[in-house]
Amino acid sequence: MTVIITFKFIHYLAIVFSGGVLVGSGVIQSIHAKANQIPDLTTGKILKLLGYIGLLSLIVLWVSGVILSINLYGGLIINSAFTIKIIAAGFLLGLSAFVNFHVLNSSKNNLPPNKTIMKIATMSGRGLLVIVLISAAIAFY
Ligand code: HEM
Repeated sequence: MTVIITFKFIHYLAIVFSGGVLVGSGVIQSIHAKANQIPDLTTGKILKLLGYIGLLSLIVLWVSGVILSINLYGGLIINSAFTIKIIAAGFLLGLSAFVNFHVLNSSKNNLPPNKTIMKIATMSGRGLLVIVLISAAIAFY
């Protein structure tokens, strides 16, 4: 009982963080794109930190999600909507890891992150998060 409540709380908190990162970094990027500007060094640092927070929150979502699935349903096979949810969550984790790696690599080479990669990644991230949330709503209704 306490384990489930604790991990549900952690799961929900991580959802807030991952969504916040996606919205926050999306707003920063779109404002720069509209002004035809590249983020300066400080904004770049903020975006990098947001990227780490996003990746960390997805890892927390996976750990807490797996613990909840095992405790509540005895494993990861619950229903088809849940399967779609974890596949989309897996893509989201992979995408976030890739973007963090790309940003780290670009800053090592003193280059700004690739605009097209960042735009596609932000858009895919939003789409995947919507898929995860819709399938979560269907899986547990
Ligand atoms: C981006 C990643 C994720 C998001 C946005 C997300 C979102 C959500 C949401 C909104 C709920 C509440 C659903 C409800 O109670 O009606 C939930 C519950 C849950 N999630 Fe996730 N989730 C994510 C990843 C995962 C992963 C990777 C797993 C497992 C491998 C998982 C397993 C669960 C379980 C077991 C519940 C509790 C269901 C219940 O209360 O009966 N989640 N998630």
